[in-house]
Amino acid sequence: MIKILFVCLGNICRSPMAEAIFNGLIQKYGLAGFIESDSAGTSDYHIGEPPDSRTLGVVHKYQLKLDHQGRQFTTGDFNKFNYIIAMDESNLSNIQRQLPKSADYKKILLMREFDEQADSQSVPDPYWSSEDGFEEVYQILHRSCQNFINYLKKNHPELAQ
Ligand code: 4NP
Repeated sequence: MIKILFVCLGNICRSPMAEAIFNGLIQKYGLAGFIESDSAGTSDYHIGEPPDSRTLGVVHKYQLKLDHQGRQFTTGDFNKFNYIIAMDESNLSNIQRQLPKSADYKKILLMREFDEQADSQSVPDPYWSSEDGFEEVYQILHRSCQNFINYLKKNHPELAQ
């Protein structure tokens, strides 16, 4: 099983939305038995809380499923997951700061490395924005997850069907 962890700050907006979109695509491509994903936040602000209602609004609009409670990223996660996908550069440095110098930093990637339309390295934080911000984040994450799956297929020949 290839394990993916999406990471943002609060784990109520961007990373759980990425998890829902990614898991929907994995189902669609028949890869559910080979790849799985989860999400976490670098902060402790929303531990145990459900995703933001605006995240859930977008998830339901696109007929995706999401059953997640906010949780904080740990170094144990770093060892358990094969890929850690950070939503922005600040999340990336928060993750790196917690790790020993010997850690395999190559497994941490930025989500927008996979967005061919990216005008920034970061998935914008929609928490303080209107609902439009959540729709924009959906479009960014959908493009990025699609390309990330293609990247995984290329790097893991056992996924090619
Ligand atoms: P997220 O958004 O990192 O995409 O989940 C945020 C959620 C909550 C806060 C900041 C960003 N907050 O400051 O509580």
